[in-house]
Amino acid sequence: MARRAFTISIPSEHHAEEADYMGMASGRNEDKFKKAGLTPVQAEYVDAPYVGECPMVLECQLIHTIEIGLHTQFVGEIKDVKVDQGVLRGDGLPDPEKVKPILYAPVFRSYFGLGKHIGEAFTIGKGI
Ligand SMILES: Cc1cc2nc3c(=O)[nH]c(=O)nc-3n(C[C@H](O)[C@H](O)[C@H](O)COP(=O)(O)O)c2cc1C
Repeated sequence: MARRAFTISIPSEHHAEEADYMGMASGRNEDKFKKAGLTPVQAEYVDAPYVGECPMVLECQLIHTIEIGLHTQFVGEIKDVKVDQGVLRGDGLPDPEKVKPILYAPVFRSYFGLGKHIGEAFTIGKGI
């Protein structure tokens, strides 16, 4: 909040254990990057670190904070999106099937993968 900046590092399935650990430990008590074997990298456009091993990273400037009771909601402006070369499609966009993001389902306290491509949006419903 002091630096008005944050990053979103999207872990792939390969780093689910490290991501879970990073959510349980606090940087106030230990060097959790080092313990998880992850690399903090200084962002290019905002004053915050991101996780070097994550295939996709968003650099964000903090625009608003909203107190919503138990939590503070952060609203950011995306200043840059970084994607590993190896997970790009031929057209230069990130391929979700290569990024393999992990999804958190709070009700089950579990992580899931993304699953297969189902169909094109604004298209597959046109036949009805
Ligand atoms: C599965 C999971 C989900 C979490 N969801 C949230 C959340 O929605 N909001 C939040 O503030 N913290 C959430 N946390 C806890 C934070 O990740 C945790 O407080 C943070 O990693 C503390 O690290 P820090 O002190 O280094 O910032 C979650 C943790 C885990 C493991």
